[in-house]
Amino acid sequence: MAKKARARCIGILTAGGDCPGLNAAIRGVAKAALHHDMKVIGILDGFRGLVENRTVPIEDMQVSGILTLGGTFLGSSRDKPHKMKMGDKVMDMTQVAIANARRLQLDCLVCLGGGGTQKNALHLHKSGGINVLTLPKTIDNDVALTDISFGYDTALGIATEAIDRLHTTATSHHRIIVCEIMGHTAGWLALGAGIAGGADVIMIPEIPYDLNVIAEHIRNRRHHGKRFSIIAIAEGAISKDEAKALAKGLKSGKKKVDPFSPSVDANGIHLVQEPMSSRVARQIQQLTGLEARVTSLGHVQRGGTPSPADRLLCTRLGTKAGELLMTGVYNVMVAVRGDECVAVPLEKVAGVVKFVPVNHPWVKTARLVGTCMGDVLGT
Ligand code: F6P
Repeated sequence: MAKKARARCIGILTAGGDCPGLNAAIRGVAKAALHHDMKVIGILDGFRGLVENRTVPIEDMQVSGILTLGGTFLGSSRDKPHKMKMGDKVMDMTQVAIANARRLQLDCLVCLGGGGTQKNALHLHKSGGINVLTLPKTIDNDVALTDISFGYDTALGIATEAIDRLHTTATSHHRIIVCEIMGHTAGWLALGAGIAGGADVIMIPEIPYDLNVIAEHIRNRRHHGKRFSIIAIAEGAISKDEAKALAKGLKSGKKKVDPFSPSVDANGIHLVQEPMSSRVARQIQQLTGLEARVTSLGHVQRGGTPSPADRLLCTRLGTKAGELLMTGVYNVMVAVRGDECVAVPLEKVAGVVKFVPVNHPWVKTARLVGTCMGDVLGT
């Protein structure tokens, strides 16, 4: 990776959906940068703050005592520089963002975010030559070329605890409980929490499901005296028929649409979505004749204090970012490889989603303990 002059002034922003650990990561980057005598500027509300020129100076005081706090004190937004709602128009604000970064005399813009943020950061670099550096943040754990993203471990703990709690009530009432877990189009969170919480069925987007198989699995459990069932379903799970239709559409040249891109009404107002698990629970109740309930964990999974593992990870990633800035390595994402934090070219990360491989060791593990993955009967 080509080295340039070391950074003397950096901007930090947090973009996309928030998650526990963002403050810890800001702290890690800022403390390491301040240690190397850099000027640190906080940019508010993601890329929108850069466009609208809303910033705060960051000194040691601003990042003291925030290691354990959830959310991000800088605020976040899902705004993209090239497609930003400005009043009642959607505009390309790329050049405004770049001009503001230059006016602030940023040697590098540090962007903390998930898949969308990696793309937006690369876009700014390519459109105006400004230096960027990113950190992988998302409870979905779907950022490419890193073993793990921060936020995942905390969300995994929250979702696992929820499954534990659902177990006791499902057992008492002999019910099926369908627990919807976030993860966007990837199944890492549902799979991890499903295994850790001992879910009886795990449904992830990478393994399209057949409801008849799931109903049969639940009936078999009943037959063996197990009168309750917990289903961990990823919000992006799709049926075999839906997967076929999707593949057919893609083959015939239809553009892949993001099923989670916010739906808005004619006035651009966000429309609240129903959890998809309601439909699945209704169908399973019909197929089995057994009572089903739904729990959609939603944003609970993104709230609150980061786990110790996430605090450690954020501090490692943040301080590694400081080291790279000090040595003039830019336009990379700081990734995790085993015990190391390494720089990977942003170009190779942006636009690539890390899905669960269908033969991943976790999937094999789940099947070996008799969990039904929705495609074939579990034991
Ligand atoms: O990417 C993180 C995530 O929490 C996804 O798991 C989920 O699909 C999405 O964000 C929800 O986004 P929002 O907070 O905009 O509703």
